[in-house]
Amino acid sequence: MDKLLLPVLLGTNRKKRNSVHAARWLIGEMEKREEIETKLFDAADFAFPKDDYGQEIKGLFPEWRDTIIKADGLVIVAPEYNHGYPGTLKAVIDLLLQEYIHKAVAFVGVSAGPWGGTRVIESMVPMVRELGLAVTFSDLNFPKVQNTFDAEGKLLNPLYEKLAREFLDELVWMSRTLKWGRENVPSKFHPLPQVLSE
Ligand SMILES: Cc1cc2nc3c(=O)[nH]c(=O)nc-3n(C[C@H](O)[C@H](O)[C@H](O)COP(=O)(O)O)c2cc1C
Repeated sequence: MDKLLLPVLLGTNRKKRNSVHAARWLIGEMEKREEIETKLFDAADFAFPKDDYGQEIKGLFPEWRDTIIKADGLVIVAPEYNHGYPGTLKAVIDLLLQEYIHKAVAFVGVSAGPWGGTRVIESMVPMVRELGLAVTFSDLNFPKVQNTFDAEGKLLNPLYEKLAREFLDELVWMSRTLKWGRENVPSKFHPLPQVLSE
C-alpha cells in the first residue's frame, strides 16, 4: 500500500517548552511504522511578518504549504495555554485553507495539569472543522508532561507506547479512508486526478 504522509506540527515557540519532547517522541514512534512518512514542523521556525497574516503570506512558507498539499493527514501537538491554544499555533494553521480539505487531523494534548490538554483539544475542534479537516476520536494526552519525560526527552512511562499505537492506528485508518475518498469520490473541493489531467 502507498505510504501516508502525516506531518506533525509542534504548536509553540516557548523556549522552555515541554511539548517538544512529546512531539519528538511521537515522530520516533511514527518512523517505526512502514505505512507512515512524517516530518516535524515547529511553530518556532515560522518567522511571521509583523504586518500581515493568513493565506496572503503562505508563499513565505513554501515547505509547509507544499507538504500540506501532499499530506494525507496532520498531527497537531497542542500545548494547553489558559485552556486554549497558543497564538503561534493558530497563526501557522491560518496560513492555509483549501490545502486541508478532506484530510485527517489528530490531536496530541500536552499540559502541566492533570487533564492532558483535553481543553485545548476541545477548543480546537470547531476551528479545524472550518478548515475541512476531519478529526479522529483517539487523542493522545500528556498530563503532567513535566513528569512524563526527563530533561533530555526520554519517555519515563512505557504505557505511552500502547497509547501511541492506538492513536496512530486510528489516524492511519482515517487518513487512508479519506485518501481513497479524495481519489475516487467526486467533490467540488478536490477535482479527481483524471479531471485535472483533461
Ligand atoms: C501561557 C501559559 C498558559 C498555561 N495554561 C495552562 C493551563 O490552562 N492548564 C495547564 O494544565 N497548563 C497550563 N500551562 C502549562 C503548560 O501546559 C505546560 O507548560 C506544558 O508543558 C505544555 O506547554 P509547553 O510546551 O509550553 O511546556 C500554561 C503555560 C503557559 C506558558
